[in-house]
Amino acid sequence: YLIIALTAIISYLIGSVNFSILLSKMLSGKDIRESGSGNAGATNMLRTYGKKMGVITLLLDVLKGIVVILLSRLVKNIAGTDEIYPVISYVAGVCVILGHNFPLYFGFKGGKGVATSLGVVLMLDWKVGLIVAVVAIAVMAVTRYVSLGSILGGAMYIVIEIVKMIVTKNVDVIQLVCVVIIGGLLIARHHANIKRLLSGTENKLGAKKGEVK
Ligand code: G3P
Repeated sequence: YLIIALTAIISYLIGSVNFSILLSKMLSGKDIRESGSGNAGATNMLRTYGKKMGVITLLLDVLKGIVVILLSRLVKNIAGTDEIYPVISYVAGVCVILGHNFPLYFGFKGGKGVATSLGVVLMLDWKVGLIVAVVAIAVMAVTRYVSLGSILGGAMYIVIEIVKMIVTKNVDVIQLVCVVIIGGLLIARHHANIKRLLSGTENKLGAKKGEVK
């Protein structure tokens, strides 16, 4: 259990490296949380600094999730405790997302965890990750709402994982809790977006200045 706790802490610390905040400060000396939607994430980087920075932030935040899951597998291999896997990876996944959303180094005010969750989910089960990503990206492309795609992706992830557990008759309580936290936290972090979506004032991707952005 000490090994799991240590892995969880390291995952949180890695997650706390929020690339949108770092890059925005490097680029303009300004904090991304003072621009656009105020969110510390790739979408707001795209909105504020353009496509290239949006993509770079997205990739780095996805990579952060991937790295942490790889690290958790390394720990598992070294510790040789097979029974704590895959649970250790799920716990590490939750912690890296928590770090991204509530970063230790940036006053606990981070992003919504979409990119980092994607990296984690792809590593935990790439087929599930791929299905969720394809549907979420399709929703984003059609509606031009990144938030709507993200929210539906979070909900879909929980449903797919639960169905998977039922079909394979392989229910692990810790794994289930982690899945619900990953999807649920992603949705909860979008509470302001949900309000804006309902009132028709949500930012649209690629909107011109002046119209509802
Ligand atoms: O990247 C998170 C996305 O789903 C919404 O971001 O900046 O429009 O609140 P934002």
